[in-house]
Amino acid sequence: MSHLSQRPADPVVGESHAHESAAAHVTGTALYTDDLVNRYPGILHAYPVSSPHAHARILTLDPDPAYQVPGVVRVLTSADVPGVNDVGTKHDEPLFPEAPGGEAMFVGHAVCWVLGETLEAARLGAAAVQVEYEPLDAILTLTDAIAQDSFHGSRPTMLRGDAATALATAPHTLSGTFEFSGQEHFYLETQASIAYVDEAEQVFIHCSTQHPTETQDIVSHVLGCPANEVTVQSLRMGGGFGGKEMQPHGYAAIAAIGARLTGRPVRVRLSRAQDMVMTGKRHGFHTTWTVGFTDSGVLTGLDVTFTADGGWSLDLSEPVLARAMCHVDNAYWIPDIAVHGRIAKCHRTSQTAFRGFGGPQGMIVIEDILGRIAQTLGIPAREIRRRNFYSDGQTTPYGMPVRHPDRQFAAWDQVIDHASVVDREAEIELFNATHPDRRRALALTPIKFGISFNLTAFNQGGALVLVYKDGSVLVNHGGTEMGQGLHTKMMQVAATTLGVPLSTVRLAPTRTDKVPNTSATAASSGADLNGGAVKDACEQIIARLRVVAASTLGVHPDDVRFSRGVVSALGTSQTVSWEDLVATAYMRRVQLSASGFYRTEGLHWDASVMQGEPFKYFVYGVAAVEVEVSRFDGSYELRRVDIVHDVGDSLSPLIDLGQIEGGFIQGAGWMTLEDLRWDDGSHDGDRGSGRLTTAGASTYKIPSLSELPEQFHVELLDKAHEEGAVYGSKAVGEPPFMLAFAVREALRQAVAAFGTDAVVDLPCPATPEAVYWAVERVRSATPVSS
Ligand code: MTE
Ligand code: HPA
Ligand code: CA
Repeated sequence: MSHLSQRPADPVVGESHAHESAAAHVTGTALYTDDLVNRYPGILHAYPVSSPHAHARILTLDPDPAYQVPGVVRVLTSADVPGVNDVGTKHDEPLFPEAPGGEAMFVGHAVCWVLGETLEAARLGAAAVQVEYEPLDAILTLTDAIAQDSFHGSRPTMLRGDAATALATAPHTLSGTFEFSGQEHFYLETQASIAYVDEAEQVFIHCSTQHPTETQDIVSHVLGCPANEVTVQSLRMGGGFGGKEMQPHGYAAIAAIGARLTGRPVRVRLSRAQDMVMTGKRHGFHTTWTVGFTDSGVLTGLDVTFTADGGWSLDLSEPVLARAMCHVDNAYWIPDIAVHGRIAKCHRTSQTAFRGFGGPQGMIVIEDILGRIAQTLGIPAREIRRRNFYSDGQTTPYGMPVRHPDRQFAAWDQVIDHASVVDREAEIELFNATHPDRRRALALTPIKFGISFNLTAFNQGGALVLVYKDGSVLVNHGGTEMGQGLHTKMMQVAATTLGVPLSTVRLAPTRTDKVPNTSATAASSGADLNGGAVKDACEQIIARLRVVAASTLGVHPDDVRFSRGVVSALGTSQTVSWEDLVATAYMRRVQLSASGFYRTEGLHWDASVMQGEPFKYFVYGVAAVEVEVSRFDGSYELRRVDIVHDVGDSLSPLIDLGQIEGGFIQGAGWMTLEDLRWDDGSHDGDRGSGRLTTAGASTYKIPSLSELPEQFHVELLDKAHEEGAVYGSKAVGEPPFMLAFAVREALRQAVAAFGTDAVVDLPCPATPEAVYWAVERVRSATPVSS
């Protein structure tokens, strides 16, 4: 067993502990970035001047009228950028469009910002700024972007074998076009930053960011100063979900420029409506595909083209597309395959990371295809899915061996068994035969999700562990806390490695001056990367303390054991407490702190040919979902959900269960409720304004208590130890999102049960309205028998 994955006797990892901030969350005492606003007397509030046009040239921008508004202190424009006027990583994302002459690229694009003594003064000032625009042609939909050949960046291709021949010789083929929409992150805490300067003009930024180092880098570029003049702290986030991986940088930069120009603290915090209108979302995709398969539904070939809605700038669209292409196989062996990708450029928000990062967009396509193949052949979908699972020795289309495919089968069979799937299928058949206006269905879908950043360089983590003279421990690490429980897991790792009780360990907010050059807390890799680094730091400290303990206890250092605050040794009944040992070590001038580092070994990726081993391992899972649909209004409910999910040897089972439940529900929202609408003219036949018409909770429905399944059973897969990962654990954050595909597939089957021999076209999201129309199509295609 590798050193990293091996657990000591009686580890603190593996125990269920509440989230370290649970009490503070529920009592309202947990502080988020914007809660700090009252701590900064004289703070200025920022408000954007937003473009009303989807695409327009700025002819003139006159800030003077804003200065007539009482309380307005400063208007920030492109002229105020001391460094580089760009907040992307691809140099295509000006912080401010140049004024005059620059272009506003979407409705809501901030063309300048007003700083005021109060938010209201800033708002009134923003309303007073005079901007003259020349409206330009706008591309408002994916279809228009494709028609007009409007694309960003590269157009990657991933190939294995000869898809064209496989499709030409396949016993059956199906083709289709599948377009599905993006998703609003709807984190509870909107984008927020507070910046201030010290007497040496150093900038400190509290920022709700998943990637403090990149926020620091970008702010330093914008300010034209070295990174050591900028410190970023991410206290905790009220949700990030990928929406705070790249998107916070611009707001932090506005606060930082404002603070340097005025010498006063500056706060940027978006309202809900601003956040929805201004920030990037999950990429919607347009896909075209042709699949080949045998009489028994075994896949023989696939040709698929993905077009991602990149929005106006690239942001993370290239890696999102790469992950989509790497996940179109999901859990299935596809011998001959051609995958083409491109990124549409259109006049919408710049779409960005969102839980799954393109993985969901790739995987939903193959699940949609398999659902259609099942209905085409009249073979149960769960038979077809299992028949196509990877088996030992097979590789993915990008050339990576699929290790442990047995776990996929194990999870699948465990769900069938524990959820009594076979019995319930019989009950469902009976129910459907006796209820003319309602249909039930049960669907199973698997997930296989690759863990690591495709960009190999990001797969590193850092930590700084401090043991104070009294024995108390303070852990700093490079990961950020967004509710996912990373800090709780890191405390458990530190307690396990140091051999102290959990109560001895505290966790410090994430700061770039404690742990430098960190990666985004993203790709579900927070615990893998930072856990490896925390463990490394703790091991350095333990190696030193071991020597001190050996001399105190009169034993060989290798024989010393650290567990739950008691230091013991083989061959003696004598023990010493952790606190006493630390005190002794201090008196002997032994260093009690260490910085730790971890990098994931064995990864490689050649983006030019889309081949390599970009992932450390795969996470597996299976969901079985039963739905009931009414034909009168298409309304439906989730009657029961059963999940078996692979988290390796869990670091913290309660946290992992919460992630699985939350991920599934967020995925179910994308599958069924969350319907982003833009005014693209498609309803009125005009050109449309490009405005996001679902810019609030009143028009954009996310899951709530009433949509939860009546029964929700989640189990962790047994015997799932992951060799070479921290204490045998696996990442958890993103993969459960995609378990929700079973909701859509169950709806497809329930709709089909209203007719006979139907292949169901189900839009995504499958809202009750969409389900209603799908039922109507199926019923009208079916001869009425009674
Ligand atoms: N859970 C909560 N409560 N809030 C979040 O914002 N983000 C998800 C997931 N779970 C998120 C969450 C996403 S998109 C990712 S990539 C992971 O958490 C990031 O954290 P991890 O790497 O520590 O799992
Ligand atoms: N998820 C998955 N892969 C990634 C991400 C993410 O958020 N960011 C960069 N690669
Ligand atoms: Ca984008």
